[in-house]
Amino acid sequence: MKPSLLLPHRLHRNFWLILTLLALVFPFSLAQAQAPAISDQEVTRQVEALITQMTLAEKIGQLTQFGQLTQGDGNPAGEKEKEKPEDKIRRGAVGSVLWLQEPAAINRLQHVAVEQSRLHIPILFGLDVIHGLYTIFPAPLATAASWDPKMVEQEQTYAAREASAAGLNWTFAPMVDIARDVRWGRIIEGAGEDPYLGSAIAAAQVRGFQGPYLGSPGHVLATMKHYAGYGAADGGRDYDSSYLSDSQLWNVYLPPFHAAVQAGVGSAMSAYMDLNDVPASGNKFLLREVLRDSWGFKGFVVSDAFAIRSLMKHGMARDGQDAAYKAFTAGLNMDMASDTYLNNLEGLTKQGRITEREIDDMVRPILAVKIRLGLFEHPYVDEARLDAVWHTPEHRAFARTAAQRSIVLLRNEGSLLPFDKNGQRFSSIAVIGPLADAHRDLFGLWGTITGSKAPAVSVLEGIRSAVGSGMRVEYAKGPALRRDIPSFFENLAFADIHEDPPQSPEDAQHALDAAVETARHCDLSIMVLGETALMSGEAASRSALDLSSRQQQLLEAVAALGKPVVLVLVSGRPLSIAWAAEHVPAILEAWYPGVEGGNAVADILFGEATPGAKLPVTWPRSVGQEPLYYAHNLTQQPETDADFKSRYWDQLTSPLYPFGYGLSYTKFSFSNLKISNAQPRLGETFGVSVDVENTGNRAGAEVVQLYIHQQAGSASRPVRELKGFEKIDLAPHEKRTVTFSLGKDELSFWSPGLKKWVEEAEEFDVWVGEDSTATLHGKFRLVP
Ligand code: BGC
Repeated sequence: MKPSLLLPHRLHRNFWLILTLLALVFPFSLAQAQAPAISDQEVTRQVEALITQMTLAEKIGQLTQFGQLTQGDGNPAGEKEKEKPEDKIRRGAVGSVLWLQEPAAINRLQHVAVEQSRLHIPILFGLDVIHGLYTIFPAPLATAASWDPKMVEQEQTYAAREASAAGLNWTFAPMVDIARDVRWGRIIEGAGEDPYLGSAIAAAQVRGFQGPYLGSPGHVLATMKHYAGYGAADGGRDYDSSYLSDSQLWNVYLPPFHAAVQAGVGSAMSAYMDLNDVPASGNKFLLREVLRDSWGFKGFVVSDAFAIRSLMKHGMARDGQDAAYKAFTAGLNMDMASDTYLNNLEGLTKQGRITEREIDDMVRPILAVKIRLGLFEHPYVDEARLDAVWHTPEHRAFARTAAQRSIVLLRNEGSLLPFDKNGQRFSSIAVIGPLADAHRDLFGLWGTITGSKAPAVSVLEGIRSAVGSGMRVEYAKGPALRRDIPSFFENLAFADIHEDPPQSPEDAQHALDAAVETARHCDLSIMVLGETALMSGEAASRSALDLSSRQQQLLEAVAALGKPVVLVLVSGRPLSIAWAAEHVPAILEAWYPGVEGGNAVADILFGEATPGAKLPVTWPRSVGQEPLYYAHNLTQQPETDADFKSRYWDQLTSPLYPFGYGLSYTKFSFSNLKISNAQPRLGETFGVSVDVENTGNRAGAEVVQLYIHQQAGSASRPVRELKGFEKIDLAPHEKRTVTFSLGKDELSFWSPGLKKWVEEAEEFDVWVGEDSTATLHGKFRLVP
């Protein structure tokens, strides 16, 4: 890099550093300290200075992400000779590298790029830091259950700190896909079914990862993914096609992406699947018309892994060149791991099918990001610093609090929970189940792939360290737990993930009997059942939601002993627990709770923490109800009609637990709903307030939720839509007034009839309460 290019950048950085220090000493407007370290004009100047020096091949290199699994371009002409990454980097054929996580390995390749390539352009190192790198925090669906965007932002701030200390400058997160079918394995990576909650969580994650501006120290570039519609896979089958109407796209699936763009996300990842028959990675409508033309996104788009090459598999591209052409012209900047751009863009330029100017346009945002991140000045990472950054009590303590705040209490008959840990009510506990002493499974799939450094605390260990010496704790695993069809992640060289080995029916029965015997000798049982890390996540969709591998049998056999049972679910999605919901008095959903999961579960069981999380997804009674979501339309003959009560003759339509649901150890009451203006004008913003009181004797957190329904208009509207929420902590008997504001943003929708965004002069219902079945009701009418 030429010094002339660096000088102004440095001056800027020093200026802002001094300003930030001053701001700390003299608390004047901190907003100024949040401004980027480099101006847009300066970024543009540096980008153009580089572009003019670059050869066509070097430009194409910037559009190429090297992956260890790269295997040629899939062109029928044959596989390319494998070339070492160092050689590729040296000749300027690599703009980014993925799947590295060790600082020494990252530095080694960065040295080649910065010291040995002609233009010394540093590399972007990207990895899936989804919910922590070395300290694994609760999985995204779990933290969405906290309904606490500030906590989510904090989690990703810690994750970014660890990632940047490892030398990574880019995470492939957040995943902001809406998912309304819990069979889809990747529902665990997102914020659930709702666009409003999903948008709030998406923006919080972007802020956490990127900090106040792109290039903030200790932060990384974020990626919103998978753009778009991946969560709507047919039948919940991962990678399968999605078919989404315009209304579903604009009103449900796109809003979290838009929120991420508005929060300043620097990159996006195109999805794998076909959206309405056009693969997302070759989809001009998504990548140009919506993302850039309509939303003004200025960052760059990377494909999902091999997705450009896969355009051939989809049946969209004839060959590698056609795939490169279609992805490139659709607006996809960077090729993840397939080398399809590397091998074909030059040929396409020479044939005149694309121009070098178009290539320049695709390279610009990538260079701009590298400049904003400060990579030209600080390309290397201090390898000695990593351990001091991640291995801290602060990160562990946060992991514990985050898990406590993510665990949902689904049932608590007769206030069985919390238990007294000193053995006054019970003097012995059986901790039972295949996940009771699981460690890595508490990380979920991505956490298991990256979280190799910090051991998790199992639920058994958490309980053992929580109870007093007066309590006897026994453990039995029960039958082995594994998928019917193994996951391909189980065999990946770089990931140490395994399920239990297969077990004969006799051995399984023996293990089951032994577990029941253990329970028989104790006063109560805590059963930890659910899904291994490999049962949820990518390539982990399922057709049934049962407690698999004899877990249901185990649960029923232990419950038949007639002693108290608590069911702790470790899972990536709601499971079929209709039987448990009737027969097991206390049920907790712990999701994949991360490194401090066992301690957090024990904190809830023994009342060190009060549960306050709420479901970010509707919990079905059985798999046959899927997709099931609260914001459905009424349409013809609703289930509430006297004569047409049911839509299934073998099952109710209602869920087992509604969206937004979750119990506490205390109770809250809602009253005094007030609407500041019963007849607001279109475009006007007005207030809805409610009094919330903690009526119990224990402090607790409640998520106050506001739902609306538009009664008539140019299209049918959902029976309810979340349009406001706030998590509040209340002391015993404390009462607080919570005020929400409603205005154009909340009351507009994309009208499929009119094919545009509208806010309509109609009557609306509004409800405020503790979940999506809230009954405290008011009305207002929007007037022209
Ligand atoms: C996943 C992405 C991920 C990428 C890189 C893909 O298989 O769909 O979510 O970011 O791999 O690891």
